[in-house]
Parts: sequence; C-alpha cells; structure tokens
Amino acid sequence: MNNSTAILEMQSVNKVFFTENNLPKHILKDINLTIYPGDFISVIGNNGAGKSTLLNIIAGNLAADTGSIYIKNHDVTNQNVTKRAKHIARVFQDPQAGTAGELTSSQNLAVASTKQHFGLQPYRRNLAPAELKSLLQQPQMGLERFLDTPVKYLSGGQRQVLSLLMAAQKQPDLLLLDEHTAALDPKTSAAVMELTNKLVNSQHLTSLMITHKMEDALHYGNRLIMVQDGQITHDVRGDDKLKLKKTEMLSWFNYK
Ligand SMILES: Nc1ncnc2c1ncn2[C@@H]1O[C@H](COP(=O)(O)OP(=O)(O)OP(=O)(O)O)[C@@H](O)[C@H]1O
Ligand SMILES: [Mg+2]
Repeated sequence: MNNSTAILEMQSVNKVFFTENNLPKHILKDINLTIYPGDFISVIGNNGAGKSTLLNIIAGNLAADTGSIYIKNHDVTNQNVTKRAKHIARVFQDPQAGTAGELTSSQNLAVASTKQHFGLQPYRRNLAPAELKSLLQQPQMGLERFLDTPVKYLSGGQRQVLSLLMAAQKQPDLLLLDEHTAALDPKTSAAVMELTNKLVNSQHLTSLMITHKMEDALHYGNRLIMVQDGQITHDVRGDDKLKLKKTEMLSWFNYK
C-alpha cells in the first residue's frame, strides 16, 4: 500500500456484471481511490454510473473481480462483509433498511453498540453514554421523545436520524451513506444533512456520501468525486472544492 495513513485504498478495482443474456457489463473500470482520515466525500454521477456498486465493493457486499482494497493498511480484498463491518457503518436510502421496526429506538441503539452479540465483530469503541445522550438531546425531529417507541411508528426522517446515530455510535473507520436523504421531504432532508455534517465533524468520522442533490454535494464535505460510466472522472478537494461552482459541476454531466 502506498499511503500509510489512508483509511481506505482501492487499487485497480474492476467489476463486471452479466446481463440476463449473459453479456458482460463492465461496471467499475480500474478504480483507484484513496480516502484519508477526516475526508467527507460527496459522490455524484448519473443513474447506473456505478456509485452504489463502488460502496458495495468497499463494504464487502460484493467482491472485486480484480484489484486490491486496503483498510488502514490491512488488505481486506478477500474479507467478507461481516469481517469488514468492524470498520464500516452504512446508512441506506430506505429508512426501513437500517433499523429494526419491532424494537424501540433505545433498543436499536443498544443493538448497534453490541453487535458482537450477534456474532459480528466488535467496533473500535462505542460512544460513551453521555455523548449519546447529548446527541439525542439536540433537536432531531423529536427523536428523543420516541426512545421507548417501536421504530416502526417513527417517520422516515426520524428513522434516518436513528440510523445515523447508530452508525456514529459504532465509531466506524468509514461511514458509507448511499443517498440517505433521498426518501425525505426537503425540510427533513436538510435537517438530516445538517445532523450528518455535525456528526461527521464532532465524531471525526471519515465518510463517503452518494447524493443526487447537487447543493448538498457542493455545500458539505471537503472533497467531491464524480463517477461516470464506472470511472472516477473528477476528484476535487480543499480550496478547489470551495471554489467549485454548480454550473461547472453540472457541465461534467454532459461530458462523454
Ligand atoms: N447485482 C447486479 N447484477 C447485475 N447488474 C447490476 C447489479 N447491481 C448493479 N447492476 C448494474 O450495474 C450498473 C451500476 O449500478 P449502480 O447501482 O452501482 O449505479 P448507481 O450509480 O448507484 O445508480 P443510481 O444513481 O441509480 O443509484 C447498473 O447498470 C445496474 O443495473
Ligand atoms: Mg445507487
């Protein structure tokens, strides 16, 4: 591995899917990506560009066909999703995906902090109860009032807040967000994005966030990458990202 401080390094990763007619579709093409500690990266790109596949390959839900993946210097290329879960937390687009509906909010949070009881790897460390309490006391769409309510009675926004808190509670090396605000109304989406930003900053998380909301991609994070047709076509960070204009970013979508 080239960079000893990287959280994640992908080297020449390729993924081919086969269509119903058994025709190969080259979905990820020679992906090289290094994620550094504290990076908060927005990932943009057309439908079908390969963004979710990229996240699935990082998390270990899918195996790379060729190439190597390292998490904090460890070669995880052949590790399955359960092994990698020690390092990675995910929040999905579907508010139902990240939480157990029959359990209360408190129980969901407790499960998140004791995953090892389910045969999964223990996380690096859990948030201290005081930290969690302070997070819950902030205005988060009333979630603090629903701690003893089964999660199936919560709104989509409240479930996403819970999913985010559960993910942060795990103190993962890498937080993967796949359009986690896409199913929410504009106001709730904005609130969940603000909470995301706050958690990433206060908990010093490193995060990769897929979004189709260009304003969010521009406004949040220190880095922005574009995936088009299975390749990383743009990767801007720091001052370059601060200077990036929406019009320029939109023009990337026309590039063939
Ligand atoms: N398991 C699979 N088997 C076959 N093809 C797949 C599989 N998963 C994804 N694909 C195809 O790979 C391509 C990339 O899919 P992916 O879900 O990564 O796109 P995406 O960039 O996340 O798109 P969106 O913005 O719509 O979520 C698509 O053409 C999709 O149909
Ligand atoms: Mg996707």
